[in-house]
Amino acid sequence: MSHPNPVTKAVIPAAGLGTRFLPATKAMPKEMLPVVDQPAIQYVVAEAARAGLNDVLMVTGRSKRALEDHFDRVPSLEATLQGKGDEEKLRRIQEATALGDIHYIRQGDPLGLGHAVLCARHHVGHEPFAVLLGDDLIDERDDLLGPMIQVQQRTGGSVIALMEVTPEQISAYGCADVETIDGQGYVKVKGLVEKPAPEEAPSNYAVIGRYVLHPAVFDVLEHTAPGRGGEIQLTDALQELAASDAEGGGVYAVVFRGRRYDTGDKLSYIQAVVQLASEREDLGPKLVPWLKDFVAGL
Ligand code: G1P
Repeated sequence: MSHPNPVTKAVIPAAGLGTRFLPATKAMPKEMLPVVDQPAIQYVVAEAARAGLNDVLMVTGRSKRALEDHFDRVPSLEATLQGKGDEEKLRRIQEATALGDIHYIRQGDPLGLGHAVLCARHHVGHEPFAVLLGDDLIDERDDLLGPMIQVQQRTGGSVIALMEVTPEQISAYGCADVETIDGQGYVKVKGLVEKPAPEEAPSNYAVIGRYVLHPAVFDVLEHTAPGRGGEIQLTDALQELAASDAEGGGVYAVVFRGRRYDTGDKLSYIQAVVQLASEREDLGPKLVPWLKDFVAGL
């Protein structure tokens, strides 16, 4: 790496309405749903911090004030815990406020992921930046952003993360057509299509919610027309950059083979909670035998 901290800004789109989780999300942002005992969004901000991304911009919308409150300090609660001598809880609530500088901007109209990223333009300026989607949690033992930042620095383009999925799953994701590059730990992206039908998918490589983008993406997003679902799609802007030879053109991908948890729909959210709780030292030893008994009795 040419510089110890070549990318420092992270953009986290968090304006989605969370309709898949209604009524739980009627008065609460879906990003605040607890995954074991921590809101989903905190795992994502912590992942960004581990990768040196300490300047976080959350792109929010109406009814998202709980996000700001969560990353803010609560002196009265801290004083109460201190008074009780509950150091462990004090440490845990302070964790959320020590992750970096968190800024907020509102998206206004929910016009799509591409539009949410475009809202970050002035904050980001002319430097590469990361985008982290809150529905995807990456296990802290598996570094994904670190290698992506390295590939961005090496290629000067934009970098996406891919995972192999089954043909039935591909229509829930962006899908990439890729070309291997000899001797490199990353691939070149030749084309991208947002949520294709299985028979139209160019591969089984699904785009997952981590991006390290060249700021050239903003100029492209300015003119990206609404695509799938009538929304301005980041995938469509990246498809244009993949074919561009101009400065900041070219899209590359890191193929992720680590542990990812999806909290974007009810079933995968429940699976993520069970999986992460099973691995926790304080819960796993009791939860796992109970789960085995429970399943055996079904
Ligand atoms: C978004 C992107 C899609 C990507 C997915 C990853 O879709 O548009 O290309 O594969 O995130 O989670 P969403 O899940 O927000 O509909």
